[in-house]
Amino acid sequence: MKKDYKSRREFIKKSSSAVLTSAVGFNILSAQPLSQRNINSETLKVGLIGCGGRGTGAALQASKADPNVIITAMADIFRDRLDKSYENLKLENPDKLKVDEGHKFIGFDSYRKLLETDVDVVILATPPNFRPGHLAAAVEADKHIFCEKPVAVDAPGIRSVIETAKKAKEKGLAMMSGFCWRHDTPKIDTYQRILDGAIGDVHTVYNTYNTGALWFHERQPQWSDFEFQMRNWLYYTWISGDHITEQAVHSLDLMAWAMSDEVPLKATGTGGRQSRTEEQYGNVYDHFAIVYEYPNGKKGFHFSRQQKDCSRAYHVELTGSQGTSYIDVFRKHEIKGKEKWKWRGEKNNMYQNEHDTLFASIRKGDPYFDGIRMANSTMLAILGRMVAYTGQTLTWDEALNSQEVLGPELEAFSWDLKWPMKEVAKPGITKFS
Ligand SMILES: NC(=O)c1ccc[n+]([C@@H]2O[C@H](COP(=O)([O-])OP(=O)(O)OC[C@H]3O[C@@H](n4cnc5c(N)ncnc54)[C@H](O)[C@@H]3O)[C@@H](O)[C@H]2O)c1
Repeated sequence: MKKDYKSRREFIKKSSSAVLTSAVGFNILSAQPLSQRNINSETLKVGLIGCGGRGTGAALQASKADPNVIITAMADIFRDRLDKSYENLKLENPDKLKVDEGHKFIGFDSYRKLLETDVDVVILATPPNFRPGHLAAAVEADKHIFCEKPVAVDAPGIRSVIETAKKAKEKGLAMMSGFCWRHDTPKIDTYQRILDGAIGDVHTVYNTYNTGALWFHERQPQWSDFEFQMRNWLYYTWISGDHITEQAVHSLDLMAWAMSDEVPLKATGTGGRQSRTEEQYGNVYDHFAIVYEYPNGKKGFHFSRQQKDCSRAYHVELTGSQGTSYIDVFRKHEIKGKEKWKWRGEKNNMYQNEHDTLFASIRKGDPYFDGIRMANSTMLAILGRMVAYTGQTLTWDEALNSQEVLGPELEAFSWDLKWPMKEVAKPGITKFS
């Protein structure tokens, strides 16, 4: 553990001196502003941090986004996860995978070792509690970033991400989040029309993410309690942020898009745990219902649940001063406004589109950046969880200034970590802090 702290300090020292000598936007290795480097002919090297389902998918999409991209480094806390991811990538796109044994990093400090290599772009796809720390380290190390949503699990994490995003912007680094619906052609087309006034001023947004049960890894005798939590991270609020943050945040991001990314004034809500009550499911809720109040009387209504054998819904309904719009996330996109309109085009692969856009923007010297927006969309979910857990109406500012830190600092992680799980939140009893 001491060794970790020491090397972390050295890394920070090294990275900070790189920032100091590089002034704004200069990569210490190339001594050229990142955004102005002529990298069109260069091979872009990609590193993957968090080699699970989504990280592997994102690495594959990155490898297909540009003819001259290779994956050169991988990091995970579990060897079996990294090996499985490596095998899948080898199967799907072997020519683009150039990760030798020396560039496979295992452990809680694996992110740092990967950032010390010469990768140009990093994919951050661990559980979200690690995101603020990994983002800060990646920007210190001058890497372009694709990071999965959500980008934090608590308000101090969001504040850190906002500071990091500002630094990334100053340095000319790409920062793209995995709020993938923003890259889905039917939605791009529909939202463009709505924001151009097809239904007048949008004043009400109803959005859902009602789904069934999710994956669960049976406990193995050799696992400690902490390993069990890390393997089943979805069910622990301190690691996932609860399912409103980890999953339903997609619907809240669609609400934010309809509201032109204006943030709400306050929220009120409820939630609880009815069907997924066994101890193995940690301390997360299985349903939420939140009302977001915006300036000028606009409102957003959010429902989400993870309960098996219940009806499902994953959609957004918008009401404006001159019409309505119904978006079933996977199928239907229609507008009933001044004119009736239904989307009928060719659907794209939004995950591939994200990476095509990201790599093209890096090549162009105009790196894609949604760093502040991804923080605000994640904060909508954290605010929703806070009002449901406490039973209190909270303003955006109160929530954003919350001092509640759900997990330990990045440097404190080791397999000896003892992090007691908080009991399931009880509205009216659980306090806001
Ligand atoms: N955009 C989308 O549609 C979408 C879909 C699925 C998941 N996600 C998001 O992607 C992220 C990952 O989800 P997933 O489904 O791939 O989960 P997963 O459990 O399959 O993968 C997470 C991986 O990260 C590893 N990991 C955990 N802590 C780590 C650390 N400190 N350092 C390095 N590696 C670490 C785990 O061992 C695991 O291999 C989550 O934030 C999730 O919300 C987004």
